[in-house]
Amino acid sequence: MKKNMIRIFLGCLMITALMSCGNKGRTVVAEAEMNVVPLPVEYTFSEGEFTMTPSTVIYDASTTDLPDMDKVIKACQRYSKDWFGKELATKKGNGDSKGIVLLADVAIPQEGYHLTVTKDQVVIAGSTARGLFYGLQTLRQLVPADCYGATDIAKIMLPAASIKDEPKFEYRCGLLDAARHFMTVDEVKSFIDILALHKGNTFHFHITDDQGWRIEIKKYPELTQIGSQRKETVIGHNTPEYDGTPYGGFYTQDEIKEIVAYAADNFVNVIPELDLPGHMQAALATYPRLGCRGADYPYEVRTKWGVSKEVLCAGNDEIYEFLENVLTEMMELFPYKYFHIGGDECPKDEWKECPKCQARIKAEGLKDEFELQTFVMDTIEKFLNAHGREIIGWEEIVQGGVSKTAIIMHWRYDDMANIAMENGNRMIMCPLSHCYLDYFQSPDSIKQPGYGHYIPIDTAYSFDPYKGLTDDQKKQIWGVQSNAWTEYACNMDEVTYMFLPRYAALSEVAWTYDKRDFADFCRRMASLRKLYDYYGWNYGSRQIFGEDETLDYTPVKR
Ligand code: ACM
Ligand code: ZN
Repeated sequence: MKKNMIRIFLGCLMITALMSCGNKGRTVVAEAEMNVVPLPVEYTFSEGEFTMTPSTVIYDASTTDLPDMDKVIKACQRYSKDWFGKELATKKGNGDSKGIVLLADVAIPQEGYHLTVTKDQVVIAGSTARGLFYGLQTLRQLVPADCYGATDIAKIMLPAASIKDEPKFEYRCGLLDAARHFMTVDEVKSFIDILALHKGNTFHFHITDDQGWRIEIKKYPELTQIGSQRKETVIGHNTPEYDGTPYGGFYTQDEIKEIVAYAADNFVNVIPELDLPGHMQAALATYPRLGCRGADYPYEVRTKWGVSKEVLCAGNDEIYEFLENVLTEMMELFPYKYFHIGGDECPKDEWKECPKCQARIKAEGLKDEFELQTFVMDTIEKFLNAHGREIIGWEEIVQGGVSKTAIIMHWRYDDMANIAMENGNRMIMCPLSHCYLDYFQSPDSIKQPGYGHYIPIDTAYSFDPYKGLTDDQKKQIWGVQSNAWTEYACNMDEVTYMFLPRYAALSEVAWTYDKRDFADFCRRMASLRKLYDYYGWNYGSRQIFGEDETLDYTPVKR
């Protein structure tokens, strides 16, 4: 009842405003309705509103000098440019200042924020700059979408509100595979933008694989001269046909620094993945001596998808030196504490036949090839630990026994996830049943740049990272990840077509968790999709908007 009265009141205001807009610009009134994704944990709307204009000032009232406060203020200015065509002015202020006030409050949890809208102020309070940044993401979505890109807005009226919010999971991540198909620096930045808008805090950057090595390593320039180029690409899902077109691309170290800095500006940590000891065919094409088949074998950068049997020779001392040299350069570029070292899909066929690998098994007293893989992973983990880093690996790294300090990324095999659970490892959940957002997002699989089984958006939304776990086991779950693999997606338009809005659904799993309601999510998405339109992000799963998504999209390749 109260809500309806507020609506009527605001509706009247809107009419009044429209009547009085003249050449001074439009007034846009935000409804007293929660349209934010992921849904904030606690919120109420009340009577009254704050009027934001191009003269509204952003006050930095963080008297305790929060680190990275400058990033929050700059972000607020960037967003205000989307609304008014100009950046709002900023000043130092205090909690009583009239305008948008960014306030430090040590009592608020690490990544949480309080957002309070009154007649005189929009106050965003947090104990960290990161928390304030998430408050800003909420403000961004409270501003009506039709303000975005408009240049004639004089006033935006925001309903009085009190929002108290914090994430359920500490780790909220999106993976982008830039190895199968190379994504430009700008495309990677737009992926980071997508993570930030949905309050994601981690970017898993998959940059080496069989089909391409995509990061410049100064000590090994051939890795990008040779390893970043494949002579052609298979058509479709490993059909006998190839496109006959050379394909390549890589990031210089300066470009990597630019991406990492951009991510930091958006409070996103970057975890690079050096996928080893499998998924290394591009490195082997560059340096055949690192493979079990030896220096004379004509390895090639892989031109089709699926799992390659051509893997690093675990019996060859040189691979450890190679990996450590590569990691040394990568650590300079990626400051975040966590490093992904792959470990998935490493067939053991070559190791079984290779004298060097067999000699290593004997010399180290290992039981079998699975323990040999553990030997490789442990060696690299110790190296990274000695440099203050912690490792993440795909769940296959538990097969030959795994250290308790490795973080396990669960993607496929429940039995391996169970081993990790029993071993006490911290875990990241991205099972392909719910979180592989390259998998089909509509039942018509023909027209999508995707693969695998159908993951409807309501299935993604229903993901429960805690399913079947005891309260003690739940503590091992660090968080949730959504994966954008790119065998079939050739550019960011195709990636986001598959990724959005299912990523929005999973962002709500990671952030809101308890208070999910799919019908309400769909209602809120109707608003958020307008921001996707504004930012030029393609999206699928149109069934939630009552549309036939397959009619308006044809992938570059299938
Ligand atoms: C994976 O999808 N191979 C981790
Ligand atoms: Zn070998």
